[in-house]
Amino acid sequence: MKSTKVLPVLVMVLILLATLVGCAPAVTPESAQPAAPVATEKSAEPVAPAATEAPAKTVYTYADMTLCYPQLGAESDWRTANTASFKETAAELGVNLIFSDAQQKQENQISAMRACIQQEVDVIALPPVVEDGWDAVLQEAKDAGIPVIIVDRSVSADKSLYVSHIGSDMVLEGRKAGEEMNKLLPNGGNVLEISGTTGSGAAVGRAQGFRETLNANITILDSQTGNFNPTEAKPVAEAFLKKYEGQIDGFFIHNDGMAEAVVEAMKAAGLQPGDVKMISVDGTRGGFQMMIDGWVQADVECNPLLGPQVMEMALMLMNGEEIEAEVLTNETVYYPDNAAELLPTRKY
Ligand code: AHR
Repeated sequence: MKSTKVLPVLVMVLILLATLVGCAPAVTPESAQPAAPVATEKSAEPVAPAATEAPAKTVYTYADMTLCYPQLGAESDWRTANTASFKETAAELGVNLIFSDAQQKQENQISAMRACIQQEVDVIALPPVVEDGWDAVLQEAKDAGIPVIIVDRSVSADKSLYVSHIGSDMVLEGRKAGEEMNKLLPNGGNVLEISGTTGSGAAVGRAQGFRETLNANITILDSQTGNFNPTEAKPVAEAFLKKYEGQIDGFFIHNDGMAEAVVEAMKAAGLQPGDVKMISVDGTRGGFQMMIDGWVQADVECNPLLGPQVMEMALMLMNGEEIEAEVLTNETVYYPDNAAELLPTRKY
């Protein structure tokens, strides 16, 4: 009978199948096959994955970022706005910001950087109080594989020690101030300068650009530092007004906070708005108010709101993207004619 012949054949087939199942690797549907080649007995050595089978690259987001910002101090409204820009942007994006205030001391900034290197932060953004003296700590960051973005003022260190500079062109700001002074004193005259922190990129650049541009018939009678600080600038202004009484046609003041101190000193000396022409830098609300009141004739913009740009670049660095070696802020000059209209729109 058919049944008696079929049974032994079936038994053999089952035995064969059982043998095969025991020896061969389990088979899964093709779509579920692993991407890497399956090792066979002959190829016991690990098989290098094919080029197309590399593991997916990690894409970092702001939430993965720890950014170190060793702020140089709190000397001006500009600086306050710069600090706020970093803190607010970090909070909005979810960046872990390690912030410190060096109180105008380079050694404090260097210590803060070293602490950040120890903590293995992802990126350091450094606003250097002065230009020189950064080589050693920048080398330490580089050796630790931590990229450094120089923010705001420049450094004199070799460009190979940091990845980029984001900030203002300070020489250009000085040139703009010189051009404005030339327009205000077409027949020449005597001017005084109260500069920013000695040795800072901002003070060095502004002084250089101003001198490069000033007409030959304008003389700089004197120049002293006010350290970008109104409290320090006020006695300088008072001494200038006394020493050069009756000879001063113009003031070039390196920031609005110090210009406010000069205005106080001029008021105390009995001067009226416009008696001495004044060019200032920054474009703070205080600067706009001095233009409205007639004390300042031109305010050269220096933009402190650098947080978003710096954090965007830091994320690009984390993701191995190419970045620009220098990103200069596009800035303008503000004048009294529309200062009242613009004041309510100012963010700092
Ligand atoms: O480096 C930028 C300068 O620093 C600003 O002009 C000044 O106000 C600040 O303190």
